[in-house]
Amino acid sequence: MHVPQKVLTNADLEKMVETTDEWIQSRTGIRERRVAEVGTTTSDLAYEAAVEALQQAKLAAKDVELLIVATTTPDMLFPSTSCLVQQRLGATGAVGFDVSAACSGSVFAMITAQQYLLTGRYRNALVIGAEVLSSFIDWTDRSTCVLFGDGAGACVMQPVSRGGILATDMGSDGSAAEMLYMPGGGSKYPPSHSSVDQRLHFLRMNGTEVFKVAVRRMAESAKRVMADAKLTPEHVECFIPHQANTRIIEAVAKFADLPIEKVYMNLQRYGNTSAASNLIALYEAVRDGVIKRDDHVVMVAFGAGLTWGSLLLQW
Ligand code: ACO
Repeated sequence: MHVPQKVLTNADLEKMVETTDEWIQSRTGIRERRVAEVGTTTSDLAYEAAVEALQQAKLAAKDVELLIVATTTPDMLFPSTSCLVQQRLGATGAVGFDVSAACSGSVFAMITAQQYLLTGRYRNALVIGAEVLSSFIDWTDRSTCVLFGDGAGACVMQPVSRGGILATDMGSDGSAAEMLYMPGGGSKYPPSHSSVDQRLHFLRMNGTEVFKVAVRRMAESAKRVMADAKLTPEHVECFIPHQANTRIIEAVAKFADLPIEKVYMNLQRYGNTSAASNLIALYEAVRDGVIKRDDHVVMVAFGAGLTWGSLLLQW
């Protein structure tokens, strides 16, 4: 994983918008988040995380076959951030593309990679979730600017003879697209004086509605992968939810019958890093010994689209 050095605390936000540390912590659980310096891009963060993942996996960049970057905040609309990371890594033998599934991005990208590995089309995949959300946040909107942070997580996936990914689930519902979206910058509202004046190039969200759907969809999805793998919550040692909000996570754990002590959370330190969130959490849970070899882990995510997905793996 890689996060920017710069820490933005709730106390810092108190000086920027009408908010309090107490409000942010009680509604979200977030204490601080990382924010990239101006000029630092999503591919910069993705590259740093990728280098560490390749080192851990003892895989040379030139031997990577599939390179997927999940991001909502690409460096540019095109080319893909994946191609930019490929070039910087020297992963000349890889095919690269981005996955756009907002906060569900890393789970969607891991499931996509798994499918290619299962068919034997590729022998390894470098999967990265990376975001510089700070570039797309309206820093005058207190209802959204307190929630998000920047960062990247990465993993190398390869076929295994036992364990690995045992069950997956993905879903989407475009009827609620405007619950969480950024209207400007695409073909609908290309950049213009008017689009900038209307602040269309910033993230917009109906937080209360997102909250309700997120809880329901993530709980259902987590239950589905456990049922598909013929496992119950007692068999799961660690639950890695998308790190958006402690209250959402606690409600998901309740509805999916997962004991809260098995639920990993690091959003206090990073906020919601969207497509990077599950992979950053997985990284820290493994690094800190929370996840051990052979443990069953459920990763579950929810994001704009709306999109949701889960995977159950044996580490
Ligand atoms: N500081 C102080 N007050 C605030 C702030 C703030 N930063 N933001 C909003 N408020 C005010 C609102 O204006 C409102 O005031 P009003 O009653 O006078 O109008 C009041 O706080 C209550 O607002 P609510 O929206 O009812 O507060 P709620 O308890 O729903 O919490 C929150 C808001 C934290 C955004 C919550 O709805 C949430 O977490 N939603 C999910 C959003 C999310 O995580 N999205 C990420 C992408 S999707 C995903 O990752 C799951």
